[in-house]
Amino acid sequence: MEKYRSFYRQSIEDKENFWAAQARRIHWFREPSVILSQNEKGFYRWFADGELNLCWLCLDEQVNHGRGEQTALLYDSPVSHTKQSFTYFALLDKVSRFAGGLLQLGIRKGDTVVIYMPMIPEAVIAMLACARIGAIHSVVFGGFAPHELAMRIDDAHPKAIISASYGIEFDKIIPYKPLVDRAIEEALHKPPLHIFYERTPGYDQLDGKGEIDYNSLLEADPAPCVPVLSTDPLYILYTSGTTGKPKGIIRDHGGYATALKFSMDYIYNAAPDEVFWAASDVGWVVGHSYIVYGPLLQGCTTILYEGKPVRTPDAGAFWRMISEYKVNVMFTAPTAIRAIKKEDHEGEKLKQYDLQSLKYLFLAGERCDPPTYHWIKDLLQIPVIDHWWQTETGWPMVGIMMGLEVLPPRAGSAGLPVCGYELHILSDEGDELEKGKEGYIAVKLPLPPGCLPTLWNNDDRFIAGYLQHFPGYYQTGDGGYLDQDGYCYIMGRVDDVINVSGHRLSTGEMEELVASHPAIAECAVMGIADELRGQRPVALVVLKDGHREEEDLIEEELVALIREKIGAVAYFRNAAVVKRLPKTRSGKILRKTIRQMADGETFTIPSTIDDPHILEEIREVLEERKMGLAWNKI
Ligand code: COA
Ligand code: AMP
Repeated sequence: MEKYRSFYRQSIEDKENFWAAQARRIHWFREPSVILSQNEKGFYRWFADGELNLCWLCLDEQVNHGRGEQTALLYDSPVSHTKQSFTYFALLDKVSRFAGGLLQLGIRKGDTVVIYMPMIPEAVIAMLACARIGAIHSVVFGGFAPHELAMRIDDAHPKAIISASYGIEFDKIIPYKPLVDRAIEEALHKPPLHIFYERTPGYDQLDGKGEIDYNSLLEADPAPCVPVLSTDPLYILYTSGTTGKPKGIIRDHGGYATALKFSMDYIYNAAPDEVFWAASDVGWVVGHSYIVYGPLLQGCTTILYEGKPVRTPDAGAFWRMISEYKVNVMFTAPTAIRAIKKEDHEGEKLKQYDLQSLKYLFLAGERCDPPTYHWIKDLLQIPVIDHWWQTETGWPMVGIMMGLEVLPPRAGSAGLPVCGYELHILSDEGDELEKGKEGYIAVKLPLPPGCLPTLWNNDDRFIAGYLQHFPGYYQTGDGGYLDQDGYCYIMGRVDDVINVSGHRLSTGEMEELVASHPAIAECAVMGIADELRGQRPVALVVLKDGHREEEDLIEEELVALIREKIGAVAYFRNAAVVKRLPKTRSGKILRKTIRQMADGETFTIPSTIDDPHILEEIREVLEERKMGLAWNKI
């Protein structure tokens, strides 16, 4: 481990020189002279006086270095039976024209633009075009319902919203325009410009005020790159927190570019010219960092896949992609592997393809259970690397740095701290815990380049949510421990965030919605273990007097409510009626105990419990309704 340890140590003990050297590996319009500084609020900033442009690094720089004819972007969509490929020249041309179109519409540096699109190249083009002119994009995952979109519109105040006719889920068409129209109707802020990409000509009726055909923007003269400050926002990406209001994570240009370059070299070990495939969605941070910006600024070929790991057309979908495009490095969520495993346990589909090009498979987004890890590792016979990070950080915090030293991954562990992240395991009181002891995972400030500088328009929430509990540290929201060799084990969130099929959602938000139903007196929403999805939310509800006869109807209404307000992705299927909820004597609902019971974990009944008999009643309801792995396994 010597190589890793020494490089890691430098990144912590001599951080300014370490990251200054990494920053010199990307092209700046103006090299930074200030490496690390703090703003007037004391928030850390990287490369404050540097100037650059991320779109330049992803496209112009690549073309200038002779990659014009190389494939930059491959689009493969089994759901629409489409394949397309764009060279760096072609992508630069489209992006700079679209950027010119945005300028013609009056969008300028610092303006915000919401992008709500399915997995089509036009989404990537729109993102890069915004970056090109210094506009701040905010991509909203296409699986979110209008209400979620409306909340993001109200927070980001976009000048334009860019969307497309429809998304495709397996064989189901999901029209987007009605969703966008509803979101705009609900939002208080009304974006003046609505740009629509017509996937099928004539599909949408673009006759409303401010509605513009996406393709008309591509007729504009190409726009040059606008130099931006390293600290200017590149994008806002909303993510779930403890309440219904999503948090707008800000990403800067300079720190992010430096960190992505570093990660492509040292973590993913992806060389320019290689094919990098992150099977995620552009609506998530993985899509931002490793479908769009990371692979392109590294000069790789990146892949946009509009499909699923299974049923598009079968459980060989991923293996077909790897073999057809000679993928070198792949990244996906454990859920996807579990879905494949469920349908093709013997790996028969995989045997039909030549996967020799594949060097590594990286997994993240949720905990990778050891059986899934071993299954895929044995099947692929290549390093399978679990690694841990979050929307907030933008790039991995823990993993195996394959481009530095090939160290053996350990099943159940997400790896070793990545350069720049000084990890500490703390007790609730902020004391350092010894190796092997589980506690809060916190990162000593300053965070390395690329991580969130603050939240959009909400410094107070940034402080309260991340910095306040442990002064001098960033609180990750995850719990876990370190072993004697420094390997990190992530044990799950310590707050109301859950991961359903790799989709980050808030049980706090669901609880607010469930509680808004007129028949509900009290409720608790928890994420319980799910064999395929990792976690899924369930509710226990106490009804107001007089509603006892309507149990089934109320459950149906609650399921419909979450689907309507958050989206089908929440996978909220159960709201079981109970007489009472288990609580502490001070009135706190024992959500963790309920979850542990459903998951079949051993647990101790909290000494502060108000009435232990309630737990027995809850257990009976969970068992009867088969809510939890504890009963489904049997
Ligand atoms: N737009 C609209 N609806 C969407 C959607 C999207 N982008 N993504 C999912 N949904 C819908 C689904 O159609 C489904 O709707 P339904 O209840 O009407 O059937 C619902 O949300 C639940 O979807 P999901 O949990 O994805 O279940 P599934 O059975 O459709 O697919 C998997 C299961 C495991 C194949 C799929 O979740 C998957 O590929 N997961 C990997 C996700 C991933 O890579 N995340 C990476 C983040 S790093
Ligand atoms: P997101 O912001 O959507 O990327 O979700 C981040 C959260 O997903 C983290 O805070 C973790 O709770 C979880 N997560 C991500 N990667 C892993 C991993 N490798 N192991 C366990 N949990 C993970």
